[in-house]
Amino acid sequence: MSILITNIKQLLQVRKSNTTIVKGADMKILPIIENAYVYIENDTIIEYGSMTDFNEIEADTVIDATGKIVLPSWCDSHTHTVYAGDRTSEFVDRIKGLSYAEIANRGGGILNSAKVLQETSEDDLFAQSIKRVNEIIAMGTGAIEIKTGYGLTVEAELKMLRVIKRIKQESLAKIVPTLLAAHAIPKEYQNKKEDYLKLIIEELIPKAASLKIAQYIDVFCEEGYFNLSETEAILEAGAKYNLRPKIHVNQFNVLGGVALGVKHNALSVDHLEELEKEDIEALKKNETIPVALPGCSYFLSIPYTPARQLIDAGLPLAIATDFNPGSSPSGNMNFIVASACIKLKMTPEEAINAATINGAYAMGISNMYGSITRGKKANLIITKPLNDYTEIPYAFAHNHLDSVIINGAHII
Ligand code: NIG
Ligand code: FE
Repeated sequence: MSILITNIKQLLQVRKSNTTIVKGADMKILPIIENAYVYIENDTIIEYGSMTDFNEIEADTVIDATGKIVLPSWCDSHTHTVYAGDRTSEFVDRIKGLSYAEIANRGGGILNSAKVLQETSEDDLFAQSIKRVNEIIAMGTGAIEIKTGYGLTVEAELKMLRVIKRIKQESLAKIVPTLLAAHAIPKEYQNKKEDYLKLIIEELIPKAASLKIAQYIDVFCEEGYFNLSETEAILEAGAKYNLRPKIHVNQFNVLGGVALGVKHNALSVDHLEELEKEDIEALKKNETIPVALPGCSYFLSIPYTPARQLIDAGLPLAIATDFNPGSSPSGNMNFIVASACIKLKMTPEEAINAATINGAYAMGISNMYGSITRGKKANLIITKPLNDYTEIPYAFAHNHLDSVIINGAHII
């Protein structure tokens, strides 16, 4: 199966295979070929270049992309896409004035989602979740990190992992699984948190690791959830099973989670709506990538991650949806790219770098995803006719997508 796309107005994010992350001032650079073609065979990008150098190639399908823009599909490095039900009633409570913390304190929030998930059969959970994944793919995302964290019992966390595994097997998108058992303290452990930690460290992590599904370990390092020493204990337990950290830090309070993540060689530290100078200094010491989640800031009306401070300090930045039922019930990366420009004051070039190559880096897959590169996976977005790629974030919430090719398959 081969596809040839010709007459592309702008082919974005064309990179040599040795680029796996872009940092600081380099994020302003988005390599482009104007009037271009791309040729893919099965699931692989084989050739591309300028139409002026184009020599006829035989292909099973030829797409004339006159006036259209082609770019690598989005890489969403932080999601909680596997969940059961929704939290629409809490949404209405928040509109009426309750805060995220107030809702959580009265048993709502993550515990609410955990209760519903525990009562949902594995097949039903899979059906609800794969539907979301397919919706995300149709919006141009080709690689998705998915966390557990709505199980909060050994059995329900393992159920989540098995569902993620099934999605990984059945979906065309690249799925990257993360174990987030330390997402909240279950009701029955409210007054004996150390017992839940023990359960995670001594039973859940070893059992989860034996399934060989999860690649990363996450902790919600936050006031009222897991403090610094508890987070460290979990990261150390995960490290014994080669689970590298990707952690929730600085969403509402700065506990020192960024430096802790860096110390434990985290692949990413995510959220950072609150940020201190020390956090930036810590990030300069390692290859840990910060990840901003503007959908969460938008939905909860909390501060946006100060992206300018991070990028202007020479650091890399990825952006992701945080798709989850409580703080960001949208998996639309197009909106995230627009928000990065409008609210985080990132340029369109920075936002597209953050949502493609750097998003792939934040999942540990940027050797195969996140750019138009010979040998990388054939994951592409073809837009409707546009004047320029800057129109993608500019005309926010418009549907700019004409079609999506994921793993070499033409989806829409
Ligand atoms: O990334 N902050 C922790 N976890 C999710 C929200 C979880 C929920 O409210 O269900 C987040 O925002
Ligand atoms: Fe999250």
